[in-house]
Amino acid sequence: MIIAIANQKGGVAKTTSTIALGGLLAKRGPCLLVDFDPQGNLTTGLGVRIASGQTTAYEVLIDRKQTALAAVIETDSGIHLLPADISLATGEKQILTVADNSRILRKKLNPLRQMFPFILVDCPPSLGMLTLNALMAADAVLIPVQCQFFALEGLRQLLETIDGLRDEDTHPHLQILGVLPTMADRTITTQDALKTLRTKLTDIKIFDPVPKSVRFPESNLAREPIHQYSSEKKLVQPYQTIANLIAERV
Ligand SMILES: Nc1ncnc2c1ncn2[C@@H]1O[C@H](COP(=O)(O)OP(=O)(O)OP(=O)(O)O)[C@@H](O)[C@H]1O
Ligand SMILES: [Mg+2]
Repeated sequence: MIIAIANQKGGVAKTTSTIALGGLLAKRGPCLLVDFDPQGNLTTGLGVRIASGQTTAYEVLIDRKQTALAAVIETDSGIHLLPADISLATGEKQILTVADNSRILRKKLNPLRQMFPFILVDCPPSLGMLTLNALMAADAVLIPVQCQFFALEGLRQLLETIDGLRDEDTHPHLQILGVLPTMADRTITTQDALKTLRTKLTDIKIFDPVPKSVRFPESNLAREPIHQYSSEKKLVQPYQTIANLIAERV
């Protein structure tokens, strides 16, 4: 199963969630995390430094002959990674004139499905060609949303994009795995955001919120998925529920 982790809003925990889920899914079977963000946060977050000569998502995107498998590396935590760096930003511009340019990642990842039952694609904070490629490659999309006043802002646009892909028959089978509220605390703002999500998005699964905790940035620094870094059940549980759901569907 290929899952895109997307929200064009920045800093909503897309990358942190990708690492958290990747860590849990890797315990069940081969798991590939695809860094599709030129910021390369997923790559650095897994402790990977791109060596010179290392193939990255950039080459996979722009070179028709470049297989995705050749770019995959195994990290210390046993998770497989297709790394990215800032060159991917150039790649996004280079493919603008290429025919069928929204299906490039799909074509590159499809041959890896046999080898990796779980493939997660970490998207950049924009609704450009990279996110579009990730959505087109995916069977389902997980949408992390920060529990704050503007939680729904931008979400509508992402949902419309997904609906558009389904309606136009471009990608009729794309599912929405659900919305994952992140950085939830005890404030009224969080309660309001959760209430708004639940009342406005009645036909979308809203997962249990991930609590706000300094353990998450700490785990990023330690280059470890949250379940390895912290034994606090309440931090891992929301991710465990989603990992179980994904594993059941594969
Ligand atoms: N549950 C949480 N509680 C507190 N901080 C968190 C939580 N989840 C993530 N963070 C922190 O929030 C910041 C943004 O997270 P992250 O980089 O995962 O977001 P992102 O959506 O991938 O950002 P971008 O849009 O820039 O790619 C990071 O410093 C991360 O450590
Ligand atoms: Mg990110």
